[in-house]
Amino acid sequence: MSGSAGPVVPEGLFADRIGVIGTEEAFSLGALISDVESRGDRVIRCNLGQPDFPLPTHIADAVIDAIRAGHTTYCDPQGIPELRRAIAASIGSHHGLDIDPERVVVFPGGRPPIGLAHHAYVEPGDEVVYTTPCYPLFESFIEYVGAVPRPLPLREETGFSLTGDELAPLITDRTKLVFINFPSNPTGGVASRDQLAELAEVVAAKGRPDIRVYAYEAIVFDGEQHVSIASIPGMADRTIIASGASKTFSWTGGRIGWAVYPTVREAKVHRRLNINYFASLPPYNQMGARVALESPESPPAIAAMVSAFQQRRDLVVAALNGIDGVTCQLPKGAFYVFPNISGVLDELGAVAAYEALPEEVRRSTSPATLFQLFLLYRYRVATMDRRSFGIRGSDGEHYLRISIATGDDDLREAMARIERAAKDADEFHSFVRSGERLTL
Ligand SMILES: Cc1ncc(COP(=O)(O)O)c(C=O)c1O
Repeated sequence: MSGSAGPVVPEGLFADRIGVIGTEEAFSLGALISDVESRGDRVIRCNLGQPDFPLPTHIADAVIDAIRAGHTTYCDPQGIPELRRAIAASIGSHHGLDIDPERVVVFPGGRPPIGLAHHAYVEPGDEVVYTTPCYPLFESFIEYVGAVPRPLPLREETGFSLTGDELAPLITDRTKLVFINFPSNPTGGVASRDQLAELAEVVAAKGRPDIRVYAYEAIVFDGEQHVSIASIPGMADRTIIASGASKTFSWTGGRIGWAVYPTVREAKVHRRLNINYFASLPPYNQMGARVALESPESPPAIAAMVSAFQQRRDLVVAALNGIDGVTCQLPKGAFYVFPNISGVLDELGAVAAYEALPEEVRRSTSPATLFQLFLLYRYRVATMDRRSFGIRGSDGEHYLRISIATGDDDLREAMARIERAAKDADEFHSFVRSGERLTL
């Protein structure tokens, strides 16, 4: 980790674990985008999973009303009871489950319950299974808590879904946590109900009695219903259902996320962790989240956003598949597309360019990263590389993640730029030779 100029950081200052905690590169890209834009050109942002819609007015009004009514103090560290009841009712009715609000914990967004699950459940030497490509925080904490990472590759040939046979070899008596996320960030792939039933069977047959499956929810397209593994018989007792207001309600700045735990005891452990880390969360935002979940104005607002994302998905996937060297599946949910750019990298000679780099640069980049940075610096389109979604198992995988949480005109222009960049070998090699920026 680099520091800015100033007093020298003494050797041994940081605990070893700080050297192994992961990160989310989508945030690092902000500085690079500013660097490119400081030269005068606007960058089209397809890097962040942040909906480009405003927070629906009825939710914004609820937050403002709550502040004006004086709800600006500490509150229940587990989350205000009204919001926990709304979460329990909403998740319960979606998945046909009876959820006690005492099993619900509210967090500052969907990230904290990932790290806190490692703190709560995992001993050094335990194994943590996670599908990859994955949301990067699924990989972040494993070594930080001294556990053993067990990445489970999702394959393009099967639509980035997952079968019981693929999961089975990874479940041992050391497996404490299994992270899954369908529709997945970054692939948009979904495991069918039958596949989830297979996964549940494997967990029940091979997992230790105290194994926990962490399942994060996301929006789905084509009128389908999201199916949670928690709704498969026997799994509610083993599944942590996590979600939040960031994506569904276009409210990433509200920092309201939540998780439903299999038992009240687990919820109370997380309540205690919340006290230690956060005390409590802004009650006015929690009141806004309650309105978001309960108001009759929310379903039409969400439906409008999902329908816009679905149209953009269709537009972007068609445009990508029209580019020589790109193949892209139609994601079934989330708001990302995940094109395979192997053909483009071949055409540009990107793998050879990567292999010619010094070893210490190669360690922190990939052929897809070089193309990602070339796109940003020379074509002003910000995307994410495969490597940013689980480093383990990413070697030789040539993908980009393109967020469709950006306006239609920008997305059309971004696709046109990617098409031009994909044919621009001379400029690509000049970019790599310049050494301007070859790693994230
Ligand atoms: C699987 C998963 N968990 C958590 C999050 C983070 O959510 P939040 O913005 O609410 O922290 C994301 C966001 O992309 C995600 O994909």
